[in-house]
Amino acid sequence: MTLGRRKFLSNTAFGLGSTLVAARYPLLAAGPVRSDARIEILLNEELGTISPNIYGHFTENLGGVVYDGIWVGEDSKVANVNGIRKSLVEALQKIKSPVIRWPGGCFADSYDWKDGIGPRDKRPRRTNFWALMPEYRDLGNVPQKYDPNQFGTNEFVQFCKLAGSQPYFAANLRSLPAEDFYRWVEYCNSPAGSTTLADTRAAAGYAQPFDVRYWGIGNESWGCGGNFTPAEYATEFRRFTTWVPKFGMKDLSFIASGPNGGDWDWTRAFLQGLLQKGPEALRSVYGLSLHYYSWNLSRGRTEDWDAGKGDALQFEPVDWYELLREGDRMESLITGHWQAMGEFDSERRIKLVVDEWGPWYKPGTQSIPTDALGQMITLRDAVMSAMTLDIFNRHPEKVTMAACAQLINCLNSLFIAHGDRLITTPVYHVFQMYAAHQGGTAVRAEFDSPAISYQRDGKAASFWGLKGSASLRDKTLTLTVVNPDVSQPREATIDLMGAEARSGSAATLTHSDIHAHNTFENPDALRPQTKEWSPSGSAVRYTFPAASVTLLQINLA
Ligand code: AHR
Repeated sequence: MTLGRRKFLSNTAFGLGSTLVAARYPLLAAGPVRSDARIEILLNEELGTISPNIYGHFTENLGGVVYDGIWVGEDSKVANVNGIRKSLVEALQKIKSPVIRWPGGCFADSYDWKDGIGPRDKRPRRTNFWALMPEYRDLGNVPQKYDPNQFGTNEFVQFCKLAGSQPYFAANLRSLPAEDFYRWVEYCNSPAGSTTLADTRAAAGYAQPFDVRYWGIGNESWGCGGNFTPAEYATEFRRFTTWVPKFGMKDLSFIASGPNGGDWDWTRAFLQGLLQKGPEALRSVYGLSLHYYSWNLSRGRTEDWDAGKGDALQFEPVDWYELLREGDRMESLITGHWQAMGEFDSERRIKLVVDEWGPWYKPGTQSIPTDALGQMITLRDAVMSAMTLDIFNRHPEKVTMAACAQLINCLNSLFIAHGDRLITTPVYHVFQMYAAHQGGTAVRAEFDSPAISYQRDGKAASFWGLKGSASLRDKTLTLTVVNPDVSQPREATIDLMGAEARSGSAATLTHSDIHAHNTFENPDALRPQTKEWSPSGSAVRYTFPAASVTLLQINLA
């Protein structure tokens, strides 16, 4: 997989068709409820505070993410706030969007931030990193191909402010010197009246510093971000992060470009390289970024980046489970890299930042041709996303930040937008349901549920029955549970281990069709349903529908 993705990232001219694939919608026959599961909530076993930032997002100047997605322009007929799509920021506020990463992705390492400041009508047009995508071939000078730089630093920071989120910038390490990075920090953070760049910022209408805390030092530096070895990158990282002025801020948080999936060597060799100059170097790293996409649905037939991908809309139950199996690898990637990091960082200063994750399907289901890497989002993606967020919740001491790739019109998007239309996808609903965990104290939840059995290419295969995560805030327990079974509802006894439930609420996202998805024509095909539920006592019961994501909130006596 590593080699396949490396190949992809060093060669952008990959094949992408733009034909829409007609989907089939077989309905599932729901089986009888199985009452054989038990969930123990160990309220006294606290795992740590769930960082709200693990519910973060990723926006890259790629396809329809920025132009059409976020930025519609001030003169647009689409309702906007200073050029930014209004319905998008309103929807982001509802899910308590904590942090947004930009401008890439691979785009970041070819982006000159200076092109995106100053009067918009004076900004240069530049070739986008992704300009060679086949779908742009016959499209003329679309903004996705020749970036008009209308959406730059000021606009991104405003977008974050409107959404109630922190900005997280990815600096260009591959094609700009460190000085440009320092100047970008200076432009964003130097106090009003202090530097020429602060004056430039003020002239654009932003006298007060942006106080940007999170700075990624390159992106995927093992691939599109410079093709470095981990040792080379460690040297670059030290150089870029030494003596960066903090201005008025207590700290800047630097995120190092980390491994691709299970590349343990990268993690070890990078930290080893960093330590060549002594243990102090570890202090400069706030987080190590981990990228992991669930893309190979070939059931072990190939490791080829193109051939291994599945279809976003057309899939059988075996493909449903295959995506979940791929997604489930996230947990061992987190624990594996965490273990490797501990070999060098005994004080555990450095945390994981999973700033690109989600399913990645073959092309063909994007809503419009300019949405490169756009894909339709079904119930399968919602279940896989919920599973991933549960994994992050279960490791609060390890994962401090994450970003779902990507926010809008691209990959595992929460939104699909075009012109004046915007819809929320099932993944959006998962983020809305899971927002209840943000800032809560994660507590251990033990799931005891028989595994699902199914056929995988003529061989018996299995996948876990129920899993989820639990957190506590004051006297409210939040429990999120995924039932991955395509046809079997499952009832569980939830044992509060001595605590008593007084009241509660329940919401579930599911559908009788595992392919269900929202479209411009039917934007609410899939949305969470609340359910009457009155839990009481120290052991309560709940039935988790087949193919579902559930949020239970229990008020404890
Ligand atoms: O999200 C799309 C691309 O995937 C990003 O640009 C890159 O960082 C990753 O390989």
